Amino acid sequence: MTIIEFIRAFAHDLPVAVVITDQTLEPPGPTILYANPAFGKLTGRDHKTVIGLTPRFMQGRETRRATLDAFHQALAASQPFHGFLSNYRPDGTRYRVEIDCRPLLGMDGTAEHFIAFEREVVRRLGRPAAGKAGRYVPANVSNELLTDALRALDIFSTNKNNHKI
Ligand SMILES: Cc1cc2nc3c(=O)[nH]c(=O)nc-3n(C[C@H](O)[C@H](O)[C@H](O)COP(=O)(O)O)c2cc1C
Repeated sequence: MTIIEFIRAFAHDLPVAVVITDQTLEPPGPTILYANPAFGKLTGRDHKTVIGLTPRFMQGRETRRATLDAFHQALAASQPFHGFLSNYRPDGTRYRVEIDCRPLLGMDGTAEHFIAFEREVVRRLGRPAAGKAGRYVPANVSNELLTDALRALDIFSTNKNNHKI
């Protein structure tokens, strides 16, 4: 069983969007190798049709370049990235997405693939909690719906020392 087959088995029915890419960072990479149905729902596409595309296809005018640069730098250093971006659906609607992206490291310590867990977030009403992550709350995939496996991996945890813009 390859790592992709393993993740497919574990991710297929998750309510959280999961997407796996290869390790190439320069365009046209990274290339999507797997996306679960929740990723299709999040991005407004059939999840099978995004295989072979780059995740950049969701970007648009209000996708912050500074955040993408930080994203790129983290991946180039085989480091995880946790942050918030504006992305777009095919009908042009903009949504705010929380992305927890991690390298899958080979024996030599370099990234062989990347995996991202993603969910839509909305601006928190009232006074924001401390830190940038506190400005947003999950739109429909709550922390309660995270499985024990994802919780154990600290997915979407705001206490990590990762990048947050
Ligand atoms: C697994 C994975 C998932 C990603 N998901 C998204 C995404 O949902 N939205 C987005 O705008 N960028 C996403 N990206 C980031 C872009 O693919 C790209 O790495 C980013 O734009 C920075 O690279 P660039 O400076 O070459 O544009 C993802 C990257 C990886 C590796």
